[in-house]
Amino acid sequence: MSQPAPQKALSAADIRARKGGVPLVCLTAYTTPVAQLADAECDLVLVGDSVGMVLHGLPSTLSVTMDMMILHGQAVARGTRRALMVVDMPFASYEEGPEQAFRNAARLMAETGAGAVKLEGGQHMAATIRFLVERGIPVTAHIGLTPQAINALGGYRVQGRGADADRIREDARAVAAAGAFSVVLEKVPAALADAITDELDIPTVGIGASAGCDGQILVIDDMLGLFDAFKPKFVKRYATLAEGASAAIRTYAEEVRARAFPAPEHVFGDEGATS
Ligand code: KIV
Repeated sequence: MSQPAPQKALSAADIRARKGGVPLVCLTAYTTPVAQLADAECDLVLVGDSVGMVLHGLPSTLSVTMDMMILHGQAVARGTRRALMVVDMPFASYEEGPEQAFRNAARLMAETGAGAVKLEGGQHMAATIRFLVERGIPVTAHIGLTPQAINALGGYRVQGRGADADRIREDARAVAAAGAFSVVLEKVPAALADAITDELDIPTVGIGASAGCDGQILVIDDMLGLFDAFKPKFVKRYATLAEGASAAIRTYAEEVRARAFPAPEHVFGDEGATS
């Protein structure tokens, strides 16, 4: 009997070609089992540096390292078959200049099998994006609220209000002209996100931006209701898994304390009995 052909993973070029088409479904993932769940529906799975806050309890993304991104990237690769896997470049792994960025982006791709990297920044990152793209590294840019710049921005606030809209628009133009295959727009006003989406010939992926973007991305633990430490206002919870997990752990604890925990012989019959 013939085997079904292995599914081909989407490439950065495939994502780029979706401009103006069916919206791109994107989520973060950090582990193999969650990547498998996301891969069933997503076009793009991002190994975000949000992993530092979501899985490691860090107060921001600033102390996430290359080694952390590689470890989680390798785990996500084992669970991803169809979606394009993109790995975030962590803070201080690319800002010194194009050569540093290339060295670290190449390492991320070689050691995880990712199809692209993401980095934060607009106009000031354009030369670096161009350098990477010209050397075979597909890049998605991330503008608007850029969490790695939290100390300079002074908080996780909406970016691009009023006169600041021009700066974000210029950032979008610069990363597109530099060759990024898509751009994440985080926490910018909907009208601005829509104007950028209309103007650029690459897909925009919104997070707290506008339903009019070419796609959407969320941190998976936020939308599943697993991460409670911090809830951005724009996040819709599609499940309340932390509540379900707490209830399950409470029931388990009650059963253990009451010696109502199923003994092996209930499950295995004689097989579980000790002699
Ligand atoms: O690190 C991350 O999860 C991200 C997304 C929120 C876009 O950058």
